[in-house]
Amino acid sequence: MFVFTTHSELRSFLKKQTGSVGLVPTMGALHKGHLSLVQKAAENNNWVLVSIFINPTQFNNANDLAKYPKNMAKDLELLTPYNKKLIVYTPNDSDLYPKAINAKKYDFGSLALHMEGAFRDNHFNGVATVIEALFRNLKPDRAYFGEKDFQQLQIIKALNDQLNLGIKIIGCPIIREIDGIAMSSRNQLLNKKERNAAPIIHQTLQEIAENNGRWDVNYMNHFFKKSVEENFFLRVEYFFVAEEATLIPVSHLKKQNDYRIFVAVNAGKTRLIDTLKLGRI
Ligand code: PAJ
Repeated sequence: MFVFTTHSELRSFLKKQTGSVGLVPTMGALHKGHLSLVQKAAENNNWVLVSIFINPTQFNNANDLAKYPKNMAKDLELLTPYNKKLIVYTPNDSDLYPKAINAKKYDFGSLALHMEGAFRDNHFNGVATVIEALFRNLKPDRAYFGEKDFQQLQIIKALNDQLNLGIKIIGCPIIREIDGIAMSSRNQLLNKKERNAAPIIHQTLQEIAENNGRWDVNYMNHFFKKSVEENFFLRVEYFFVAEEATLIPVSHLKKQNDYRIFVAVNAGKTRLIDTLKLGRI
């Protein structure tokens, strides 16, 4: 395993190597969801480059940033199976933000207007700023992102196209715990009662997907809220069904079009997001 804290040292190391580089950007507190991206990158590239950086500009809440889980020693241990072809990049703020720690402004049209774009002010400007810096500084051939953050994945594809960065963006399926909860670094912040309650989120999404074609969007929304909030610890922040291509929420589903459900649920002080693709009607 090769560990670098500056992109200039990393780039000079890479210049001496041959073969393709697959980048997996993360904020650490790694779990099997992250490792599935690392595995995919290892299968498709000569080198896997994992960045571990808690990006301050994408947090719209100082407390959320402060309590974001960190465990570098455990992260490096989880990455050891990929040792031989693995490069880890753990920069500090100034390596990615040489001037000021500010988000740039981007225009992603409808992709950034709803869901996380509406409920987390400036979030995607922060994500795009750090991803642009990683892409420009590290120049990977491919970059891997999870569908867990489907809106983020679509925005990064748009960023790559808009700026002509020429990186192949690869989306990877959501990895879940056996009880259905989407793996997330934030799950560590749940207490026992919240953790026990959380699987209802995915279970309810599945039930809704099974009834697609029979239930209208309004009823899906009502059903989700009722089913999830029967649990005292869970409060729904939003439920949307949005068109996959534009990420615009809809209230009616057209035949032969691709839609996805997007939800955010507060479990105590922890915010959980999830998404599920609906079958075509
Ligand atoms: P982070 O939440 O650490 O996630 C890093 C990557 O892992 C993202 O592409 C995310 O979608 C993916 N991921 C997380 N949980 C997953 C799961 N259960 N199954 C599959 N993939 C999963 O997302 C970020 O960091 C940041 O916004 C980042 C892109 C690194 C920019 O700062």
